[in-house]
Amino acid sequence: MKKEEIKKIIIIVIAVIILVSIILLVKGCDSTKSDLKKKGYSKDEINTIVEKLSESDINKILNMDYNKNLVSIINEQYYIPDNLERYLTYSNKNENIKDVISIVNVGADSDWYTNTKEANVDEGIKMLVNKFHYLKDDYLPDDIVPISNWYAYDGHSIKKEVYDKYVSMWKAANEQGLRLLVNSSYRTFEDQQKEYDMSNDDYASRPGFSEHQTGLALDIVTDDIIGNEFENTDEFKWLQENAHLYGFILRYPKGKEHITGYNYESWHYRYVGKELATKVKESGLTYDEYYAYYCEYKKAC
Ligand code: DAL
Ligand code: ZN
Repeated sequence: MKKEEIKKIIIIVIAVIILVSIILLVKGCDSTKSDLKKKGYSKDEINTIVEKLSESDINKILNMDYNKNLVSIINEQYYIPDNLERYLTYSNKNENIKDVISIVNVGADSDWYTNTKEANVDEGIKMLVNKFHYLKDDYLPDDIVPISNWYAYDGHSIKKEVYDKYVSMWKAANEQGLRLLVNSSYRTFEDQQKEYDMSNDDYASRPGFSEHQTGLALDIVTDDIIGNEFENTDEFKWLQENAHLYGFILRYPKGKEHITGYNYESWHYRYVGKELATKVKESGLTYDEYYAYYCEYKKAC
């Protein structure tokens, strides 16, 4: 056979392979689309599903009943593909899709204190400690230093980095005629047990599940004010606008109780460093939500 003829045959074979692959692909897609149609999905819904979901996720959808929330779920900003089935299940209990995404992302579609895992302490100031992420009873942060009574009620201590930033923040607030005061700080596992025994699950963490054990959390108030009375003070208003510049975030905001698992605490601030605190504030998310999406899923925090 001539060289020219061999070349021709090879080209024809390749062309046939490509053509067959395209036909199979279109057929496959058509059969997926018709299966979705049989499930009850509309043309528009099918187009979004095929465009946005992987083949294995589409197979999961095909094994479940029609869900009217599916497209809203996959179009949500904080959608995480691994959570798809849990979103669909939880959306049968809650009509608010944004809430469904947040609740599932932070693990709150399970009861508090179930499906817990150990906090990643190697993440340092970024570590997440909440009702699903715990510290071992013998976890002791390093670099704990006493807080001067100038800035705190008596007998408090915190990590050195947090102390330095708190003092800078205290001075900036003080220049505006304001006076911040630390009311609670680093707590050992045993200290937290005592706190918990005096309180309840809405306000106190069970031992091992408190940010106070990280040495990265401070309860900040002002003279003669305790509890959520603090939110009516100029000190609180100043912290709302400036705390992130010193690396602090309000950890248990109002209206996010179903995400954080705690009642609103206008006094509890968590140190995560200026860069991350600024991003968390700008996102409008709780740290639980921010961590689940950006730190854990996007690996970008
Ligand atoms: N009050 C906060 C939730 C704690 O006990 O750590
Ligand atoms: Zn606190």
